[in-house]
Amino acid sequence: MTAATPEIDLMGEEAIRDPYSAFAPLRSDNPVVWNPQYRSWVITRHRDVSAALRDDRFSSDRIAPFIERKLADPGTDPLIRQAFEVLRHWMVFQDEPSHMRLRSLVRKAFTPRSVQRMQERVAELSTDLLSKISADDEFDLIAEFAYPLPAIVIAEMLGVPPEDRDTFKHWTDEIAPLVSAGLDDPDRYARAAAAMDALIEYFGDLLRRYEAEPADNLISGLIESRDEGDALTQAEVVATCTLLLFGGHETTANLIANSMLALLRHPDQLAALRDGQVDTRLAVEELLRFDGPGKAVVRVMREDTEFGGQLLRKGQRVFLVLAAANHDPEVFDDPDVLRLDRANNTHVAFGFGAHTCLGSALARLEASVAVPILLTGLPGVRLAERPLRWQQVFLTRGLQELWLRADGIT
Ligand code: HEM
Repeated sequence: MTAATPEIDLMGEEAIRDPYSAFAPLRSDNPVVWNPQYRSWVITRHRDVSAALRDDRFSSDRIAPFIERKLADPGTDPLIRQAFEVLRHWMVFQDEPSHMRLRSLVRKAFTPRSVQRMQERVAELSTDLLSKISADDEFDLIAEFAYPLPAIVIAEMLGVPPEDRDTFKHWTDEIAPLVSAGLDDPDRYARAAAAMDALIEYFGDLLRRYEAEPADNLISGLIESRDEGDALTQAEVVATCTLLLFGGHETTANLIANSMLALLRHPDQLAALRDGQVDTRLAVEELLRFDGPGKAVVRVMREDTEFGGQLLRKGQRVFLVLAAANHDPEVFDDPDVLRLDRANNTHVAFGFGAHTCLGSALARLEASVAVPILLTGLPGVRLAERPLRWQQVFLTRGLQELWLRADGIT
């Protein structure tokens, strides 16, 4: 371990407000460094982050010890126990071969070609959500647009009937803090576990329904895969449904909101996109790189490993800082400049390697449909004069609210 351990508070005000500036000195001077406060290695260079994401000595099986402890504790409430059982089966926390076994079952549904057929529906939903915004006054884009859109899209893809959507939304809102930010309030913990219980039962009912009457949706696809060859257990099917639900919800909401913020702070780039002077696909890649929703991912060392001149010990936790890698001057010219027509954009906003975001094509589709609809539908849109409040979390990057003003809705 290095003697020089420059302090950076990963959750400090500066790192939350502007992680790109906060991590720059680490990336240039201490690219692989031990952080004593968080008892973790912090890796910030693009080449190191990409290498670690492809290296199976960096294990994804990172929550097992925590979950095992909770499950072993006889005092753990049965509902909380059940919620952890679900998280334990998430593919994102598994190494090979169990990871690929789960991933291969849903992979087909998320190829660019498969998600392309959602394009019209995403446009319809975006237009519908936009039409409900009253632009005479200030409005919170996250609550009224960015948050509901991906939730409805994934609910429909899974096969949640429209009449159940409100109840379903209530459960997902209750559970969200458990899976994204973590919870320290025991009351909220209990409510999240109760909602997870209801959701598990609900998915069980949906499974039975689509077993009897298969339909063209993800749950039917999972049932089909479960019944072929390498059978999935019921717990794995339910866990995979919840992962798809949560993995793509807040992340995509943050992508839409962070993108609008970046564009509103760069009016020339906003005008170029609105006027069709830049390719929307390139623009979305740049928005993902410039201020994407994934700030870091976590790994745990499977064995003692020499990496970047340091000895990373078995069992130690590692933060791979995607946000810092995406602003690495070794890879990107003028990394802190938003350039919507940037070519060869090798960002790692969706991770890299075996666990590369499964929903990346869907997230790209949603942003590339929703952002242009917002720009044309909200003439004169601008930031309201309110302070920006970022979520106080390390792994993801998103605003609590994004208050906007517009001159009207077209
Ligand atoms: C994995 C980011 C949207 C489902 C990941 C990972 C990242 C990521 C960084 C890798 C985690 C790791 O290596 O530990 C994002 C971002 C999104 C987004 C920034 C939006 C802009 C979605 C959507 C879905 C989704 C829409 C599905 C509906 C998943 C799944 C995994 C994953 C299932 C686990 C893949 C595996 O372990 O093989 N995502 N994601 N994500 N994402 Fe996304």
